[in-house]
This record gives sequence, C-alpha cells and structure tokens, in this order.
Amino acid sequence: MSRTSQPVRIGVIGVTGRGGLSRHWHKPGDKSVVVAGADINEEYLREFKQKIGESVFVTTDYRRLLERDDIDAIAVTSPDYCHEEHAAAALEAGKHVFCEKPLAITVEGCDRILKAWKKSGKHLMVGFNMRYMNIFRTMKEIVDSGTIGEIKTVWVRHFVGHGGEWYFHDWHANRKNTTSLLLQKASHDIDMIHWISGHYAKRVAAFGGLDFYGGDKPNNLECPECPERDNCPEFQIWPGHQYCVFRKEVDVEDNTVVIMELENGIKATYTQCHFTPDYWRNYTFIGTEGRLENLDDSSKVIVLTRDRVRKYKNLANRSYDVKPAEGGHGGADPLICQDFVDMLISGREPLATPVAGRMSVAVGCAATESLRSGGKVVEVAPLP
Ligand SMILES: NC(=O)c1ccc[n+]([C@@H]2O[C@H](COP(=O)([O-])OP(=O)(O)OC[C@H]3O[C@@H](n4cnc5c(N)ncnc54)[C@H](O)[C@@H]3O)[C@@H](O)[C@H]2O)c1
Repeated sequence: MSRTSQPVRIGVIGVTGRGGLSRHWHKPGDKSVVVAGADINEEYLREFKQKIGESVFVTTDYRRLLERDDIDAIAVTSPDYCHEEHAAAALEAGKHVFCEKPLAITVEGCDRILKAWKKSGKHLMVGFNMRYMNIFRTMKEIVDSGTIGEIKTVWVRHFVGHGGEWYFHDWHANRKNTTSLLLQKASHDIDMIHWISGHYAKRVAAFGGLDFYGGDKPNNLECPECPERDNCPEFQIWPGHQYCVFRKEVDVEDNTVVIMELENGIKATYTQCHFTPDYWRNYTFIGTEGRLENLDDSSKVIVLTRDRVRKYKNLANRSYDVKPAEGGHGGADPLICQDFVDMLISGREPLATPVAGRMSVAVGCAATESLRSGGKVVEVAPLP
C-alpha cells in the first residue's frame, strides 16, 4: 500500500475495552481515521458513535464491515476467542489487520490466520505493545550491543497484582475462551523472551494451579447482588466484568511456573501469579559477560559485568533510569497505533510480526498442555 494523500480508513471489531485504541487512530486531517465499528452490544456502539462522530458506520454484524470498500484496515480488539474468526475473515476480505494478542487461542487458529495473511498479500500486525515500551527497548538495545555477551539464561517473574480484577470476573477465567492465562497474559512475556534473546522456545514444561480464585459460588452471581459484597476484597462494579471470582466455572490457573529451552540452548523461566498484592514484571537476562535486570517497578535497568562483580561485589557498573512515554501502557499504545498506520503507508514489515504472535501462542499452548498433564516436557509446534 502506498497512500500519500488519503488517510488510512480503519474499522474496529470490539469497540469497548481495547477498542479504545480508536482514539489513537481517529485523527481527521492526519494519517488515519476510524470510519466504522462492529460490536455485539448495541449500547457500546452508541457510545462509540458519540466518541468518534455521528458519521461513523456501526453494526452488530462484523461481516457488514468487511463488505465495505471505504475501509482499508480492520483492528480486531474483540476477546481472544474471536480473533481467529475476525482476523482470518478480514484478511480474506482484502483488509489489512491489526490483531490484539494473543493472535488466537490455539496453534491451529494462528496457522489459519497466517495462511489467510500470506494468501491476501495484506499487512498483519499483532498487538505486542510491550515491544514499544521504553523499558524493554532499553533492555533489548543493551543485549543487542553485546554488553552482557551471549545470552545463556532468562528469568522472568510476573506479579499480576490486579489478577482478580482483570482476569477472574469475566470471560478470561474460562479455558474455552482463552485456553489459559499463559496465552492471555503471558503471550507478551513469552514474546519478550523471544524478542530480546533473538530465539524462539523449542520445548517447555510447566506446573500450575487454581489455588486462590474459583470455588463453589454460582456462575451467575454478580458482585452487586452478592450478600458478601461488603466484606469481599474482590468486590467490583463493572458491568459485564463483575461475575464472582469464586464461581464454579472458573477453570484457568491463577499461578504457573514454566521452564523453556530456546533454539540455541538458552534456558528460560517464566512465573506468573494473579493473587500477589503488587503489579510488575521483573526480567533478568544473563550472558557470558554479565547480566541485566529491570528494577523499581521498571523505572531502572541495571547492568553488572563479570569483571566489575568480581572486583566490587555486586555493584552495578551501569544503571539506566527509564521514563515511560506519554500514553497508555507506558506510552506504548499511541506508538503501536502510529506504527501500524506508518507500516501501511510505507509498506514495511511490522515490529510485532505475525510469526512472533504465532510462536508466543505455540509456547503458551505447549506449556498449558504440560501443566495439565503432570509437568511433562512438550515440544513447541514448529511453524508449518
Ligand atoms: N495489548 C494489550 O496491552 C492489551 C490490553 C488489554 C486487552 N488486550 C486484548 O484485547 C482484546 C480485548 O480485550 P478487552 O479487555 O478489551 O475485552 P472486553 O471484554 O473488555 O471488550 C471486548 C469488546 O468486544 C466486544 N465483543 C465481544 N464479542 C464480540 C463479537 N463476537 N463481535 C464483535 N464484538 C464483540 C465486546 O462487546 C466488547 O466491546 C483481548 O484479546 C485482550 O487480550 C490487549
């Protein structure tokens, strides 16, 4: 695509929640505009029209969007279990696609999207906004510079402090919708391990459990109606996202430990817990010359090299203060939206590639299979 004068015209499937990225794309007079939205909820579509403008086309049937010639690109911001259908159909209809992570909830679903993408000749980008965060860009630059030598091991601790609030009150908490939170939440982190080390995981093993959420409450119990609402620390009012976190149907793990072996023998660990009080991600990369780690809620990166450690006992010999950029997710949301539009205009490859999206799902699926079958080693499905 090479559009120099006309803005890229974008249609959004799933207009609330992550559909809020529309605000970064809707820039009349600039490079992109949002011209349409599809959602199964009519009230959400009314709100979307109020935000974007009366002229925006809205529909409860996403296929009406795909039929329109005045739409160049589709943003798939619907729930995970819809991505395969929405992204594949949009590519088959000849639209460029921005698909939120995870690319799909099965490897087969991802491969169906990749097939449609290759056949279409259109652009496909995955919503890996962590690739646009200053903290992880800094870490990648340091690794790529060779300062810590050849990477041999990676340790990631993921403290999901808002686990109940974000993942256990709604559709996220069911295997049929997400496969597991190793795809839903960890797809970003698995991608960071791949991206920063420069290698994909080949085999994995995992343990995990549902040790805090889930229980015997009715599936239709919503917080505002609950007799225990005044004493429940998980109480939440958010229409559509206020089902009891202790309901029977909850069946995804709330804490997991994954070990991985990457293509060139790098060993990595990823640990995730949804009932820890704090929210942050701690990454350590250790190479033949030193190690690097993010600290203080990701506002600092330290580098220790082996010669310095030997002489000065654990003193970091470099420390980088990293400020997030302006905007959602540490400034990554406006950047990824801009990059999607720039990619369509220039025709270049995306930073968040479809293959990276697929490989992160493949690792999440393999780890889920392992933890649900006693922790056996599972090979990651290679690209077809
Ligand atoms: N990259 C990130 O940082 C990030 C952050 C949050 C969410 N996400 C991803 O964005 C996606 C959406 O998450 P969310 O939290 O916004 O979910 P949500 O449930 O809050 O919103 C989903 C929207 O999709 C609509 N929808 C549901 N089924 C639909 C269908 N069949 N057709 C059309 N619309 C439909 C819903 O009505 C709602 O408006 C998920 O895949 C999630 O993983 C990514």
